[in-house]
Amino acid sequence: MKIISNLMVTGGSGFIGSNFIRYVFDKTNYEGRIINIDKLTYAGNPDNLRAIEENYCNRYCFERADICDFDALEDIFSRHDIDAVCHFAAESHVDRSIKRPGEFIFTNIVGTYNLLEIARARMDRFVLFHHISTDEVYGSLGKRGVFRETTRYKPSSPYSASKASSDHLVSAYHKTFGLPVTISNCSNNYGPFQFPEKLIPLMALNAIDGKPLPVYGDGKNVRDWLYVEDHCDAIWQIMNGGKRGDTYNIGGNMEMENIVIVEMICDIVDELCGLLGDRSRRNLITFVKDRPGHDRRYAIDFSKLTGHLGWHPRESFQSGLKKTIRWYMDNAAWVGRVRSGDYQSWVKEQYGE
Ligand code: NAD
Ligand code: TYD
Repeated sequence: MKIISNLMVTGGSGFIGSNFIRYVFDKTNYEGRIINIDKLTYAGNPDNLRAIEENYCNRYCFERADICDFDALEDIFSRHDIDAVCHFAAESHVDRSIKRPGEFIFTNIVGTYNLLEIARARMDRFVLFHHISTDEVYGSLGKRGVFRETTRYKPSSPYSASKASSDHLVSAYHKTFGLPVTISNCSNNYGPFQFPEKLIPLMALNAIDGKPLPVYGDGKNVRDWLYVEDHCDAIWQIMNGGKRGDTYNIGGNMEMENIVIVEMICDIVDELCGLLGDRSRRNLITFVKDRPGHDRRYAIDFSKLTGHLGWHPRESFQSGLKKTIRWYMDNAAWVGRVRSGDYQSWVKEQYGE
């Protein structure tokens, strides 16, 4: 397999992308450069990579750019002689895709197309295009069953439909043009640096502050959860050992009902911060109107990844969740900055607070 020298990470200032860049520099034997391309939307935060900027200034470079801007991308590819892409950049929140789908179509579909086209033009020296995707492309499961790599795509939300579309484009560029690609479809991630619009950080911060905990519908929707560092490890293994043209599912073997997670968060915050007066934070749980098109259950069969590459998740949910809540408690300045700006207006629009 050819060695990667100049790896472009798109969306590297977001939640998973920033954890991935930190993982590659701190925990692998990669010796090349990483060029992080990020538009810095509401979800992108340069603070996520301050330590990397300081510790790896010769091998890390940030370029603020929109992946929908073809000319800007072409210029960055050529200036940095990019030979591989790990593509995270996306609009990533289902609820926002229900309110305003347009950005999801542009960034997730047109942006991916732009990257593929430029990679195709450099095919002579191009090593790999790895696309980060989601289990949500498979749609919803009933009480039984799991998503396999062979499961038919049946996305429910504008978000998952746009990710399904970009997955199809990536595999079409492999089949039609021979571009070396891999795709991974992962379940719900949690961990440090996640923007607090997603379930776990939203509930953790609201619980810390003693605010209502808005659970959609009956709270019995099921997601599979994976600690973000385990996801980064899986991506790196697929990039290095995965079969070109193949898709790999990634999961945590950790199916949980939303309500159970929210109760766990309440109990951990009660333990770490003390009760709210003399009451458990479970009293803050409020059932609210369900999300339209809300997928009932996700579950992942990741035996292909384990069989081919020996990957399996390491972090247990209980300890990963506690570590994550501690991180949010210890990083009040990060939380304060992230919650200023767009965040308040989003919370008002979504929850009517
Ligand atoms: P995020 O919203 O935290 O970060 C997305 C990043 O992309 C941000 O830094 C943002 O500024 C950047 N970005 C958005 N539009 C851009 C554009 N037009 N040009 C350049 N940069 C742009 O998302 P995340 O949770 O880190 O997810 C990263 C990827 O992983 C996404 O592709 C998502 O679909 C996928 N994924 C996420 C999860 C999850 O649980 N969060 C699970 C499976 C797959
Ligand atoms: P989310 O973190 O938005 O991820 P996704 O929709 O991509 O799975 O939501 C996870 C689950 O939590 C999902 O079933 C919706 C639910 N949820 C709530 O009940 N309340 C909330 O405020 C949020 C943000 C999510």
